[in-house]
Amino acid sequence: MDKIIIIDFGGQYTHLIGRKVREKGVYSEIVPYDMKIEEIDSNVKGIILSGGPYHVSEDSPKIDPRILDLGIPILGICYGHQLIAYMSGGKVGPSKKKEYGITYVNIINNNDILKGLSKKEKVWMSHSDSVFSLPDDYEVLAYSENCPIAAFKHKYKPIYGVQWHPEVYHTENGDVIFENFISICNCNRDWKIENLLDKMIEEVRNEVKNGKAIIALSGGIDSSTAAMIAAKAIGNRLVAVFVDHGFMREGEVESIKNTFKELNLIVIEAKDRFLEKIKGVSDPELKRKLIGEEFIRVFEEIAEKVGAEYLIQGTIYPDRIESGLRHSDKIKSHHNVAGIPSKIKFKKIIEPLRDLYKDEVRKIALKLGLPKEIVYRQPFPGPGLAVRIIGEVTKEKLEIIRKADKIVREEIEKSKIREKLWQYFAVLTDTKTTGVKGDERAYGYVVAIRCVESREAMTARFANIPYKLLERISTRITNEIPQVVRVVYDITHKPPATIEWE
Ligand code: XMP
Repeated sequence: MDKIIIIDFGGQYTHLIGRKVREKGVYSEIVPYDMKIEEIDSNVKGIILSGGPYHVSEDSPKIDPRILDLGIPILGICYGHQLIAYMSGGKVGPSKKKEYGITYVNIINNNDILKGLSKKEKVWMSHSDSVFSLPDDYEVLAYSENCPIAAFKHKYKPIYGVQWHPEVYHTENGDVIFENFISICNCNRDWKIENLLDKMIEEVRNEVKNGKAIIALSGGIDSSTAAMIAAKAIGNRLVAVFVDHGFMREGEVESIKNTFKELNLIVIEAKDRFLEKIKGVSDPELKRKLIGEEFIRVFEEIAEKVGAEYLIQGTIYPDRIESGLRHSDKIKSHHNVAGIPSKIKFKKIIEPLRDLYKDEVRKIALKLGLPKEIVYRQPFPGPGLAVRIIGEVTKEKLEIIRKADKIVREEIEKSKIREKLWQYFAVLTDTKTTGVKGDERAYGYVVAIRCVESREAMTARFANIPYKLLERISTRITNEIPQVVRVVYDITHKPPATIEWE
């Protein structure tokens, strides 16, 4: 299959480049900048150099210079743009004025890579260095007020550079550049995620053969999808383990049991065990750590009993990249279920979703017939409601938060605003305040409501929820949960706050 590789210089948006290319039907892979030239096989039809935090210099990260002579089309973005210029003998240095955010570029030549763009384009810039001169065999295609060479092309080779970020949403016609580049690369657009399903099932079957595999189900989309794929491949020789730590939301455990009833599913009832483990603990990090450790212990016990040689994981592409591409075999430490057994030696860890982005996993999940409540489930932290109870977790507090969360979900899901939200949930604070209920003084908890809009959870905005809706939520919570006397709405963006409170 034709592919475009993205050489990663640690840019914040490298991922988005990968996704943009795939959205256009071309398979893409992100590779580290020190990859060997020999790894560029005949399927590679284009190379994109990402942005990055470095200043181009003798010591800064580079590509093998021979890559520029391969004849494969190359597009440099931001640092990549500067690097091509520098490695070809151009001059790069600090800009007089840095450009961050929305900028307008003037297009001198809207052919090739800039085909279809207007004379002035709204773009997203984020750079403190600029390209100041280029060798004679290059041509300047665009400039901005503070950047004399904002885009260029080689006169005789398919090599291009843009200083701005076509991959970010704020660049108005960023897609046009990817379209143009893909056309220049002459790629087959045959990347269709649905076609992959059979291949993934086949792969699991070939790996496990007559053996037995185990998977930890969290109720989230990744592990659920991986489990369905593995079950299709090896049937009952897959053991799916769901550890009920007691911090799930109302109805969730039943829904998981129901969805996966056809699978060889073991539900470990460990509510008391987890509650005991974090008894008296109010430090959020310690809480997370203890829950993570306990999870591993429970899973290890069951894995030993089951005696599976293979471990299936729902690791997806961004997880691997975050854990460092060079170590893609390393098991991620930030999985939803907070870790994986270290004591047990599996013959192999199989990650059928390892090359997929979240939206691609959703497509596969729908194809597998997973229910919409799992496919479109809002992100939910591995330690569950335990990190939405500030301070010590008790049975009573779990009951309160579960009811409050259910009310928030019910009300939001009835309203149109749902589509705009990344997450919507309740937090039980450890503050008690005075209220009045039925003419009597009441003293009870404060519940906070958190609703955020976000694209990737790296940043988030608190959502503009209609007052009427907030009022309904607040009234229901104080009416239906006797221990709560006050409801507040969290109006903090991320940063400076995080999405979850703990
Ligand atoms: P924060 O609170 O850091 O969260 O802004 C970013 C996103 O990650 C989710 N989250 C987790 N997801 N395991 C997960 O799989 C965890 O332990 C965990 N903690 C936070 C959070 O809900 C948000 O979407």
